[in-house]
Amino acid sequence: MATTTETLRQIKEELLAFCASPLYEERTTNMVFPVIGEGNHHAKVMFVGEAPGKNEARTGRPFCGASGRVLDELLAHISLPRAEVYVTNVVKDRPPLNRDPKPEEIALYAPFLDRQIEAIQPKIIVTLGRFSMQYMMERLGLAAHIASISVIRGRVFDASVSYGSVKLIPMFHPAVGIYSRQSMPTLKADMETLKSLL
Ligand code: URA
Repeated sequence: MATTTETLRQIKEELLAFCASPLYEERTTNMVFPVIGEGNHHAKVMFVGEAPGKNEARTGRPFCGASGRVLDELLAHISLPRAEVYVTNVVKDRPPLNRDPKPEEIALYAPFLDRQIEAIQPKIIVTLGRFSMQYMMERLGLAAHIASISVIRGRVFDASVSYGSVKLIPMFHPAVGIYSRQSMPTLKADMETLKSLL
């Protein structure tokens, strides 16, 4: 049986060759890269964002721009090293001009995320923003609990997965902390909820 690292490498190779996506065009015209995911292959906690931004697509690394700095600040708040967790997105290529991902783009890339989750087998999945929240809640059989992110952020949902059980915590996207520093206490409070489960 393939190891987690071998499976993740296979997923990476498939994504690098994934020219079926309409977003693939961006790679060839703008010299950008897909962002596969990064971190501990045996992480207990997996963070799932939305889609790469400009800096991420330039470097191929998730959350390495302004949103990433907020994410780092939030991780530091609970003394959780980034190297201990796994960070990825639902959509692996940058939507042009940072527009919202389209439902068909989410549908196209989500199977890769599903396989990353199956390989890493996190005990806790933290969604960052409403797109990953929506996708993961539907995927985990929690659709009946979907509500506005401002209502269900910071709540802990239990779900069954092929490898046992998982907890899902929806959180605001870290970009919220860039535009509104007043939201930082809320973002930090949700991280403290995560910390209480570690
Ligand atoms: N926003 C996201 O959702 N993901 C990233 O990797 C960067 C910004």
